[in-house]
Amino acid sequence: MTLSCGIDVGGTKIAGGVVDEDGTVLEKLRVESPATDVDAMEDAIAGLVRELASRHDVSAVGVGAAGYVDRDRAKVLIAPNLAWRDIDLKGELEEQIHLPVVVENDANAAAWGEFRYGAGADVDDLLLVTVGTGVGGGLVLDGQVHRGAFGVAAEIGHLRVVPDGLPCGCGRRGCFEQYASGTALDRRARAAAASGDAAASALLERAGGDAAAIDGPMITEVARSGDPFALAQLAELGRWLGAGIASLVAVLDPAVIAVGGGVADADELLLDPVRESFVEHLPGREHRPIAEIRKATLGNTAGLVGAADLARS
Ligand code: BGC
Ligand code: NA
Ligand code: ZN
Repeated sequence: MTLSCGIDVGGTKIAGGVVDEDGTVLEKLRVESPATDVDAMEDAIAGLVRELASRHDVSAVGVGAAGYVDRDRAKVLIAPNLAWRDIDLKGELEEQIHLPVVVENDANAAAWGEFRYGAGADVDDLLLVTVGTGVGGGLVLDGQVHRGAFGVAAEIGHLRVVPDGLPCGCGRRGCFEQYASGTALDRRARAAAASGDAAASALLERAGGDAAAIDGPMITEVARSGDPFALAQLAELGRWLGAGIASLVAVLDPAVIAVGGGVADADELLLDPVRESFVEHLPGREHRPIAEIRKATLGNTAGLVGAADLARS
C-alpha cells in the first residue's frame, strides 16, 4: 500500500502524519509553529517529514498551508496569519527532503479529507468552513477540489462582511475572519472579561483571573456548564458564521456545509446558532432547499489526511 505524508501548517501548530490509501493515520507528530519565522517554519516541516520518513516508506508529501497557494500547488502567495509572502514552499522543501511535494491550501486539504473520509463522504458538493486562527474555506464541486483560475478560490475568510471594519492580515478591512474565527471569539470574550463585565466572571475565574488567558476550549468548557456569557459568545460566533455561510451558499449551492476547526468541538452549542443564522440570512429560504450544516468529523487530522491524499493522486 502506498504511504504518503501529510503536513498541516497552521498559525499555532504544525501537525504531520503518515497516511495510507484508506485515509488511516499510521503515525502522527505535532510541533509548535514558529509562525513569524519563515526559515524556521520550513525547517520544522522538513524535520517532521524526515522523522516520519525514517520510520515509514513514504512516497510523497502533501503540505496544507494556511494561505493563498498558486495554481501549480507550489508557491504560497500570502499567508495572512503567518510570515509567508511569495514563498516557493515546494521548491524549498524538495531541496531539503528529496521527496515530491505538493502544496495545497490548508482548508482545501481539509475539505478533501472530509470529502473522501469524513463529513462529506456521501455528497458530491461540499463546502468546508474551518474556524481557527483565521477562517478557511475548502470547496469540493462535483467531486473535485475547486481551485479557480489562479488557485486561490474559496478564500472565504477574506469576504468583506463589514464595510471599513476591523483590519485584517490580508491588508483589507472588515474580512469575515475578523468576526467569525476562533481568534475573534477569543478577542470578544477577553475584551468583555477585561472590561470588568460581571457577566464574564465565571469565565474569568476559569482563566485564573487573567482575561488574556481566555481561549476557545475554556469558553466551550464553561458554556457546557450552562454559563450564559460563554453560551452567548458561542452564539455570537455562530451568528457571524451562519450569515457568512448564507451568502456563500447563495453563490455555491453545496449539498453540505461542514464546520471544522477547534471550536467545532462546542458541537450544538455552536452549530445550532450557526444553523439558525444561516436559515435566517439565506436568500429565498422559503422557496429553496436548505443545505445541511454538519460538524466536520475528522477533527484536527482532516488537513493532513487530505494533504496526504492529494499528494498521492
Ligand atoms: C487564509 C486561508 C486559510 C485560512 C485558514 C486565512 O487567513 O487566507 O488561506 O485557509 O486562513 O487557515
Ligand atoms: Na481554500
Ligand atoms: Zn482579510
